[in-house]
Amino acid sequence: MTPSDKLLLQMQDIEKSFYGVKVLDKVSIDLYAGEVLALLGENGAGKSTLIKILNGDYQKDGGTILIDGQPVQINRPRDAEALGIRMIYQEQHYAGELSVTENLLLGHLPMRGFIVDWKAAHNQARERLKLLKLDLDPTKLMMNLTVVERQIVEVVKAISGNARIIVMDEPTAAFPPNEVALLFDSIRALVKQGISIIYISHRLDEIFQIADRATVLRDGKLVGTKSITDITQRDLVQMMVGHDVTRGTSETSIPDANSNTKPVLQVSGLGRGSIFTNIDLQLIPGEIVGIFGLLGAGHDAIINTIFGESQPDRGSIMIDGKQVTITNPRDARRAGIGLVPGDRKVQGLVLDMNVRENVTLSNWGALSRWGFFQRSSEKSRAQQWIDRLGIRMAGGMTTKLRFLSGGNQQKVVLARWLEANVKVLLLNEPTWGVDVGARGDIYAQLEALASQGLAILLVSSDLDEVLSVSHRVLTVYKGQLTGQFSRSEASREKLLHAAAGGTL
Ligand SMILES: Nc1ncnc2c1ncn2[C@@H]1O[C@H](COP(=O)(O)OP(=O)(O)OP(=O)(O)O)[C@@H](O)[C@H]1O
Ligand SMILES: [Mg+2]
Repeated sequence: MTPSDKLLLQMQDIEKSFYGVKVLDKVSIDLYAGEVLALLGENGAGKSTLIKILNGDYQKDGGTILIDGQPVQINRPRDAEALGIRMIYQEQHYAGELSVTENLLLGHLPMRGFIVDWKAAHNQARERLKLLKLDLDPTKLMMNLTVVERQIVEVVKAISGNARIIVMDEPTAAFPPNEVALLFDSIRALVKQGISIIYISHRLDEIFQIADRATVLRDGKLVGTKSITDITQRDLVQMMVGHDVTRGTSETSIPDANSNTKPVLQVSGLGRGSIFTNIDLQLIPGEIVGIFGLLGAGHDAIINTIFGESQPDRGSIMIDGKQVTITNPRDARRAGIGLVPGDRKVQGLVLDMNVRENVTLSNWGALSRWGFFQRSSEKSRAQQWIDRLGIRMAGGMTTKLRFLSGGNQQKVVLARWLEANVKVLLLNEPTWGVDVGARGDIYAQLEALASQGLAILLVSSDLDEVLSVSHRVLTVYKGQLTGQFSRSEASREKLLHAAAGGTL
């Protein structure tokens, strides 16, 4: 930042309460033209609420918003749009059937008489994509793009509409590690044009790559704003959680996969079409096995199939040495298998049930045995998980899931399955959107459950996560297992190499 930098946006003393609980308490942020400002804080700190106020999705209870030094009223998203503010949502409400060109030029397609001049249209679209260095065929349908391509197309669309401020709320949560760079290239191109970015992420390494300054919130209050060059990752974590976090590598005893212990899960020759083939794997009780693969490798399809969400056409699954037929998730559940799905919104949560009900959902059978004690037992079990994982919400455990922050929703899905008393737990991206402090709590709970005999199979695109929780790691490339590493053998380089199809 130089003194000549222009102050573009000021949010001053913003206040907001839900259910009488203050979730933003006089929070102020400044945004300069052409900078990337990171907005950081633990799950439930108020980040999404603040930017929803900026976008007119929520109404503030107090405070002032200024653009170019002038107070502005933002009562609805349309007001924000008129002021040049654009939100890039994680799940785009894009029209999948449209081509990239149609999506970008919607309402402004070049015409020749009464017909669309497609050649000119595609050329215009191509030019716009080039602004953000995206080399993409504009005749492609939106639904055939990768998540990152789709997001960049949305950004391109935003800047063609004269956006000055682009807000990204955890844009990379669903990105595989090798695609983040593509988004960052386009952010750098935007900033060069004087556009400003507000960037929210729980991946602190990203903040150091892309942000100029970082503003930290804690419990709805402003902790401070720092220039990235003046600060370390450790300082940031300390600002976020209020104390130092030391992630001691816990000395856990790792079960010996080669021992004579009978496997609890044994998968042989499992295959589904061309998505994955010949998958052999086994887990003994107490083992945590990670499966690592790049986008489209088929690793998440493997665990979804074990859970009965789709049918294999070859191979078998055995639980405790007995072959089981799993044609749907209910069969899987009966066989003692649980799944924490990757897409929590669609599969994992009942958004209109409250926190207590969601946590105890998969355990209702066990609870009803207690007859009229059910409610109080449900309550104390839910409270246990709220404490253990630090689940936070403004209205207590009767708050509907829909009103929890993203990371806290994810903790509830996890709590439900950790509570569920299964033999084998399948996890898909268990800490998407979960803040650094809470991530450590989740890993500790996984370790604790494993040491009581639970077998855990974990799919994650977060290499650090795979490396720090797994006792053993398998790599998948194009639907095939390409490597197996013990915790002591596994390293970033080896896993990436094997996941990219390299042979060792
Ligand atoms: N519509 C709503 N109704 C009730 N409470 C809400 C609503 N929206 C947010 N909250 C509460 O406001 C607080 C802040 O939530 P917010 O979504 O802003 O957190 P966040 O910092 O974005 O967290 P995360 O990192 O988990 O996404 C939370 O306690 C949340 O439960
Ligand atoms: Mg959020």
